[in-house]
Amino acid sequence: MSKKALVCYFSVSGVTATMAKDIADAIGAATYEIEPKVKYSADDLNWQNSSSRSSIEMNDVKARPEITGEPADVDGADVVFLGFPIWWYTAPRIINTFLENYDFSGKRVVLFATSGGTDIEKSIKDLQNTYTRIHFDGGKKLNVGASKQELRAWASTYLM
Ligand SMILES: Cc1cc2nc3c(=O)[nH]c(=O)nc-3n(C[C@H](O)[C@H](O)[C@H](O)COP(=O)(O)O)c2cc1C
Repeated sequence: MSKKALVCYFSVSGVTATMAKDIADAIGAATYEIEPKVKYSADDLNWQNSSSRSSIEMNDVKARPEITGEPADVDGADVVFLGFPIWWYTAPRIINTFLENYDFSGKRVVLFATSGGTDIEKSIKDLQNTYTRIHFDGGKKLNVGASKQELRAWASTYLM
């Protein structure tokens, strides 16, 4: 029997959101957007300013930006695809907030990310080391323009 998937994502400028929707379409899964309670402004995202909100959060491994909106139906999924933009070579802290808000026991969490070039390997390692009880099952950095066929071929391997 095919497993049930949920595609969760955080995206500020829309690149990861597009990928998440394409993955969900390709495998017939629902999407869930991780919405920050306080939206990120352009100033918040300025990585050249060490006092910007994103710089401060990424410098603090304990930062946990709050999430707003309806909860995700993680309970109803066997496989949770979790997507984000890479910030400072790793996952944004709001991904930690998300992972700490739900019970992932018995589920597989598959990461995907978009970035300006940085690979996903460090993000995977960082999250695996922080959440040793979650079953992370690899992940993929997605390139803008990835075809739905390519996304389906990748994502469907987790649904068997
Ligand atoms: C605060 C901040 C830090 C970033 N750090 C990196 C990085 O370390 N490596 C990289 O390749 N891209 C980095 N980027 C670029 C984003 O990962 C990239 O633009 C991503 O596709 C944006 O996704 P989104 O549109 O879903 O928000 C950073 C962007 C921001 C705003």
